[in-house]
Amino acid sequence: MCGIVGYVGPQPALEVVVDGLKRLEYRGYDSAGVAVLADGRMDTEKRAGKLANLKAALSEAPRSADGIGIGHTRWATHGAPTDVNAHPHVDNDNRVAVIHNGIIENFASLRLELEERGCKFSSETDTEVAAHLLGEEVKEQGDDLAAAMRAVCRRLEGAFTLVAMHAGDPDLVVAARRNSPLVVGRGDGENFLASDVAAFIAHTRDAVELGQDQVVELRRDSVAVTDYDGNPAPVREYHVDWDASAAEKGGYDYFMLKEIVEQPQAVADTLLGRVAVDGTLTLDEMRLAPSELREIEKIVIIACGTSYHAGLIAKYAIEHWCRVPCEVEVASEFRYRDPILNRQTMVIAISQSGESMDTLMAVRYAREQRARVLAICNVNGSTIPRESDGVLYTHAGPEVGVAATKTFLTQLVACYLIGLYLAQVRNTKFGDEINAVIEQLANMPEQVERVLGTVGPVRDLARSLADSGTVLFLGRHVGYPVALEGALKLKELAYMHAEAFAAGELKHGPIALIEDGLPVVVVVPSREGRGVLHDKIVSNIQEIRARGARTIVIAEEGDESVRPFADELIEIPAVPTLLQPIVSSIPMQVFACELALAKGNDVDQPRNLAKSVTVE
Ligand code: F6R
Repeated sequence: MCGIVGYVGPQPALEVVVDGLKRLEYRGYDSAGVAVLADGRMDTEKRAGKLANLKAALSEAPRSADGIGIGHTRWATHGAPTDVNAHPHVDNDNRVAVIHNGIIENFASLRLELEERGCKFSSETDTEVAAHLLGEEVKEQGDDLAAAMRAVCRRLEGAFTLVAMHAGDPDLVVAARRNSPLVVGRGDGENFLASDVAAFIAHTRDAVELGQDQVVELRRDSVAVTDYDGNPAPVREYHVDWDASAAEKGGYDYFMLKEIVEQPQAVADTLLGRVAVDGTLTLDEMRLAPSELREIEKIVIIACGTSYHAGLIAKYAIEHWCRVPCEVEVASEFRYRDPILNRQTMVIAISQSGESMDTLMAVRYAREQRARVLAICNVNGSTIPRESDGVLYTHAGPEVGVAATKTFLTQLVACYLIGLYLAQVRNTKFGDEINAVIEQLANMPEQVERVLGTVGPVRDLARSLADSGTVLFLGRHVGYPVALEGALKLKELAYMHAEAFAAGELKHGPIALIEDGLPVVVVVPSREGRGVLHDKIVSNIQEIRARGARTIVIAEEGDESVRPFADELIEIPAVPTLLQPIVSSIPMQVFACELALAKGNDVDQPRNLAKSVTVE
């Protein structure tokens, strides 16, 4: 949610900043803007709409720039996405420029105070308050931008990353962080700032992770970090283990298409180094000792959107393998209902970005209640893992398409690893049973590859449904969250009405929706172990077909029992029931992506959405 870039160094600042914004556009794409210094004068340009509009404006009026600049892609919170509301915002003297990610909660009272002092506001944004406050404070602090930033941050409430430049110092970008992401890239004679390493990965892979309530002063040759009182603050330096090509489209028209295809590798990378040949699991980075894991009496999974669906699937696996009660809840509801947590509760927070504010707030709440918190996350050093007791990183690589695909599959793998590890540590199942699942899990990259090789007909099917008004999804057991995920993908990408039901609920109401020609996607449980559920869903398929539904059935290869009732049959490899979501969700992704493309939608940047939702 909002992408931020800052640069100081010898390269043409405008190019570096705009190129960084291109790589962050997935974070917000309703407007974009830049500020540079040219001969000591603050020069800003900003445009509503996608980055292309800003680029067009910049090429119409080329400008020179000293080696310093900041840039922003916006996902609007306060004020409509217009040129005026786009960032950067400047103070009334046009000496200070500011960009911002997050929400300043006390902006209304601050705005009133500033207006009473004579400040003139030109936008409806909360950010402009920070620009005017900084402008005033810089004067008070004798042009010391960092001291001014610290003073301003002490007055702000809410979540924010602020980045600022001052016309009086062409070698300084200052940034502050509270609850929103910010990372520094260290170069040779140049330094970078961004919401995500993707913005500067083409220049450097050496990163510095900022902590909460810290201010960084970025100069060509130095990076200094303090707390809001000016005391030196500890930081963590790390080396990014992927390169610029991983964040590029690599010949695909859309990142999402590339990310779907990358799933076998993403799954393999997430398993890598964690499963030994003899079936032993190594999850040391979880930072939770086996003795602590043995004390757990209840597991609560919190997450949003697609990550929540991964949590729903994890519940089936964890309860079956570990015999520990497991609840799953959307993070935005969790802390408002007074949940029962204690030291014997393990909370698993699933978030690919590690920045979803709803999940972060739920993590903080859980820790206040003394629960042990374990994060599953794809972004190294992001806020949620930093604030958790332990973390299991997924290794999906950068995911740029707004719709989660490879991060979802790797979240499932991480959940399975945690469940199997807990079962081993707590000795809740016969070792042989657990070892057999571990072996099958280790085989999943191959199965994912096989599914991808057979989804061609799903594309044709999706295109043929581009004019449908509604699509329903049905599933049972772990197939139910897969159905929920299929419906979510269709809503967010194709802007279509889509709903999912547990197939057993059909007769309690939703069957009334079935009418002639209505497409219904049904995920059929594997026949292994759960034969009863399999047979029940086959009956459901017959019931809806008898009422006119067009049945699109996702079932195991060789499952002849569904064939007579399937208008369209999508076959997936036969894998153990609990692992089936890893293969059954792939046709759902392809279906939604292709249908959205057939409607002419931008699948990487669906309307109204952002990749990291850093506001509640
Ligand atoms: C859907 C999607 C969202 C996210 C949700 C949580 O494709 O991507 O529903 O899953 O916003 O995001 P994270 O996992 O970053 O907390």
